[in-house]
Amino acid sequence: MTTPSQPAITATGLRRSFGDHVVLDGIDLNVPRGTVFALLGANGAGKTTTVKILSTLIRADGGSARVAGHDLTAEPDAVRAAIGVTGQFSAVDNLLTGLENLTLMADLHHLGRAAGRRRVAELLDQFDLADAAKKPVATYSGGMRRRLDLAMTLIGTPQVIFLDEPTTGLDPRSRRGMWQIVRELVTDGVTIFLTTQYLEEADELADRIAVLDHGKIVAEGTADELKRRIPGGHVQLRFATLRDLESAVRAVSSTAGQASRDSDGLALRVPHDGSLRALKALLDRLDANAVEVDSLSVHTPDLDDVFLALTGNPDNQKVATR
Ligand SMILES: Nc1ncnc2c1ncn2[C@@H]1O[C@H](COP(=O)(O)OP(=O)(O)OP(=O)(O)O)[C@@H](O)[C@H]1O
Ligand SMILES: [Mg+2]
Repeated sequence: MTTPSQPAITATGLRRSFGDHVVLDGIDLNVPRGTVFALLGANGAGKTTTVKILSTLIRADGGSARVAGHDLTAEPDAVRAAIGVTGQFSAVDNLLTGLENLTLMADLHHLGRAAGRRRVAELLDQFDLADAAKKPVATYSGGMRRRLDLAMTLIGTPQVIFLDEPTTGLDPRSRRGMWQIVRELVTDGVTIFLTTQYLEEADELADRIAVLDHGKIVAEGTADELKRRIPGGHVQLRFATLRDLESAVRAVSSTAGQASRDSDGLALRVPHDGSLRALKALLDRLDANAVEVDSLSVHTPDLDDVFLALTGNPDNQKVATR
C-alpha cells in the first residue's frame, strides 16, 4: 500500500539499451501521489520505453524504481495490481463491441458478474459510449476508441495510470474531453504519468514536466519554471510611421540596450521579463517621450520554446543545466 507521504513513482538511475543503442542513460523520477506528471521528448526519445519499464512490461538494465509503493523488480505483481496502462497504440479488440471489450476486462480483473456489469455500465456512461456500446469497435472513431481504451484501463480502479500519448490524433474537442477525464481522475486521488507530443497538453494538465533528451532528463519542473529558464520574453511594439519608430528607439535606448529594430515592419522588439512592473516602466518611458505606439504585444516563452531549446541539439543543453 502507498501512504500519502510516499510518492506514487520514484526512479533512480534507470537505464535501458537496445543492442548498443542507449535509450535511457540513467533517469531519476519522483512523482507525488494525486498529481499529473508529463514526460516530454522528441520521437524516439524513450518515452514509451520509460512507460514500459515503469509498468513492468519490459525490464530496465539498471537502476531501481518503486511504483505505488512497490519495488518494480521485487514485487512486479503488486505493481501490476495497482496500475493501469493505456498504451500508445490502442489495445482494444476491433471485432468485439465496446461492451464486450469492457466486459472482457472486468472478467480479467475478477470483478464478479454483478459488480463487473455495474462497473462496465458506469464507465460506458462516464466515457459517453453507452449509445455505441453494442456496436463493433471497428466502427468507432479514433476519439471513441481512445476513450474506450482508457475506460478499459480504469476497470481495475488503478492508483497510478500511465497514459502514453493519450490524445495523439484526437480533434481539439475530443482532446479537451480527455483532459477533463484526467482532471476528474486526479481529483479522485489517482496519479497520472503521461507522455505527450502536445506541449499545450502538458501545460494544461501537468503539475510537473520532465523533458527527456539523449537518454537523460534535461529539465524538470512546473511549466512556469521551465518557461522561466528560457530567454526570449519580449514586448513587440508596432508604429504607424518610421518617425514614431525612431523616437521609440531613442526613448528605450538607455534602458533596453538590446532592443532590436525591425524597420520593414515598423516594429521594435524590447526584451522583457514578463512582469507588469517592467511593462509599466516601458510604457511610462514611451509616454514621457510622447511616442505614439500603434499596437503592442507581450510574448512570453511557451513550452514549445522550452522544448526546442532543450532537445535535439546537445550544444543547447547548457540551458538546462544552469
Ligand atoms: N524493442 C525494441 N528493440 C529495438 N529498439 C527499440 C525497441 N523499442 C524501442 N526501441 C528504440 O528505442 C528508442 C526509443 O523508443 P521509444 O518508443 O521509447 O520512443 P518514444 O519517445 O516513445 O517515441 P515516440 O514519440 O515516437 O513514441 C527508439 O530509437 C526505438 O527505435
Ligand atoms: Mg512512444
